Amino acid sequence: MLVAIVIIVILLVAAASVVLLAGRARASSTGSLSRETRQRDDSSESTPAPVEGATTSTEIEAAGRERSDQTRTSAFGGLIRRRRGEVVEYEPVDEEEIGVSRRQFLNRGILLTVGFSLSGFGAAMLGFLWPLQGLGGFGGTVNIGKLADILSAIDAQSKPFYAAQARTYVVRYPKDNPTALAAAKKIYKPAVFKDMSELGIVALYQRCVHLGCRVPFCQTSQWFECPCHGSKYNRVGEKKAGPAPRGLDRFYATQTSDTSIIVDTGNIFLGPPIGTNTTGQNAEGPLCV
Ligand code: FES
Repeated sequence: MLVAIVIIVILLVAAASVVLLAGRARASSTGSLSRETRQRDDSSESTPAPVEGATTSTEIEAAGRERSDQTRTSAFGGLIRRRRGEVVEYEPVDEEEIGVSRRQFLNRGILLTVGFSLSGFGAAMLGFLWPLQGLGGFGGTVNIGKLADILSAIDAQSKPFYAAQARTYVVRYPKDNPTALAAAKKIYKPAVFKDMSELGIVALYQRCVHLGCRVPFCQTSQWFECPCHGSKYNRVGEKKAGPAPRGLDRFYATQTSDTSIIVDTGNIFLGPPIGTNTTGQNAEGPLCV
């Protein structure tokens, strides 16, 4: 929800930026009179040209206005002829007549570039943050096969079943051991405990909770042993040694009506605290690390 709000805010800010830039571009394309032109206009107003036959200032102004009007209305070849330095009324520029100026072209190009860039950024953010539920990859729900096949593979090879697409190790949990279950019930979240007590499995995230290395399983010790800094976890991911701050994180798994196991990798359950030892499993042979 928070992510969606952040994305909407970013898109609104981007849209507002484009609108503001468009406004500025339109305003700047009108332009303004240069200082030289304004000075020439001022001097023209303050010192009217001498008029023949006029004696008082009122007569001079009236005669000047009349001559100015005559000049403005006389046309030659479709063009109005004006005296040098004469002040004329502002006439809006007909954009269709003058076409697209270089400045307008550049402004529109910049706006289009900014618009496309922001749109691409927004689309990439949405694509990155969009939930992957139901799409079958890591970050969503992943079908890792039938429960019976998974348990057979674990027993046949005496090692966890590895589901690469879910980045998950599936291990057995001794669901017939009431002491282990009683201890686990106090530690684990109900969803995870349900997998342990009903399906007899634990879906462990492969990532070491110390600094993120992938933790391999040691066949001889029957523990997970991290090669990076030596953290060790027992078969059900409870921490035994090393710098890791807790046990391995885990996922919630469900069984469908056709007994397939679906791992929800979109929700990570933090591993149990240091000292947790629900199964009492010690190293069963030499350590690998
Ligand atoms: S990353 Fe595994 S012990 Fe450091």
